[in-house]
Amino acid sequence: MKLKDKTAIITGGGTGIGRATALLFAREGASVVITGRTEKTLAGASDEAKRENSKIDYLVSDISKEEDCKDAIDYMIESFGRVDIVFNNAGVIHQAKTHETKTRDWDETFDVNVKGAYLMSKHAIPYMLENNYGCIVNNSSILGLKGSSGGFAAYCASKGAVNQLTRSMALEYADKGIRVNAICPGTAYTPMVDGMFEVVGRGDKEAAEELYRSVHPIGRLAQPEEIAHAVLFLCDDNIAFMTGTMLSVDGGLSAK
Ligand SMILES: NC(=O)c1ccc[n+]([C@@H]2O[C@H](COP(=O)([O-])OP(=O)(O)OC[C@H]3O[C@@H](n4cnc5c(N)ncnc54)[C@H](OP(=O)(O)O)[C@@H]3O)[C@@H](O)[C@H]2O)c1
Repeated sequence: MKLKDKTAIITGGGTGIGRATALLFAREGASVVITGRTEKTLAGASDEAKRENSKIDYLVSDISKEEDCKDAIDYMIESFGRVDIVFNNAGVIHQAKTHETKTRDWDETFDVNVKGAYLMSKHAIPYMLENNYGCIVNNSSILGLKGSSGGFAAYCASKGAVNQLTRSMALEYADKGIRVNAICPGTAYTPMVDGMFEVVGRGDKEAAEELYRSVHPIGRLAQPEEIAHAVLFLCDDNIAFMTGTMLSVDGGLSAK
């Protein structure tokens, strides 16, 4: 069990990559809390863990709100006495060219993808400093490393900001036992991507999926579990020398 005696909080843990990571972490022995705005999906993940004879707690929480982030970290401390791992995974995407992007969509993209990661980290780090131990993983994207002509400027900008937040936090706490890394996934089958295929394919999801498959050198898209294993890798104490890294998990896409 790679995470025995560790505690982990995962934002956006009711669906997609967050859910796969929560289930994997619970199997690996961690005490896991997931957050999100939708009780039904959070409860679904918790039930799935029960069926596997492991355990996931959940908390309805909106990471764009500071009070909710503070409460979520307080919940970790009240429940377990410590917070070892924060996986800042929750994210949103809106597809529109820059001049057609609604300002409220731009704001939501930054409030969730960037401010959410900052707020969760801000409230967890004081406890991590007390223990001289912590592991923060931010879920960035291949689109944090590369631009896109497909109408994802707000998303690209937010994930670029996540990468710079990752590098800066890694440097701030490198000598305090807190490691901060990011994963940069290519396209994985999740509800977010399902919605994106609908928009990009203008109703023809299969055509959109084929297009995305064709740009990944590996010739297929990822399952969320494959991304979850990369997050687990980053939380492994055996790689304690690794901080400030953007880890691409993208079927070779960033090598092009
Ligand atoms: N799938 C991919 O191909 C891919 C590629 C690169 C990066 N990523 C990144 O991976 C992360 C997870 O996405 P996913 O693909 O797994 O899609 P997903 O299933 O849609 O997951 C996104 C999660 O974020 C939560 N969320 C959104 N707004 C929130 C808020 N204000 N407060 C709390 N939770 C919120 C959602 O739950 P609620 O709606 O219930 O709040 C949902 O569980 C995102 O950061 C995404 O940018 C995904």
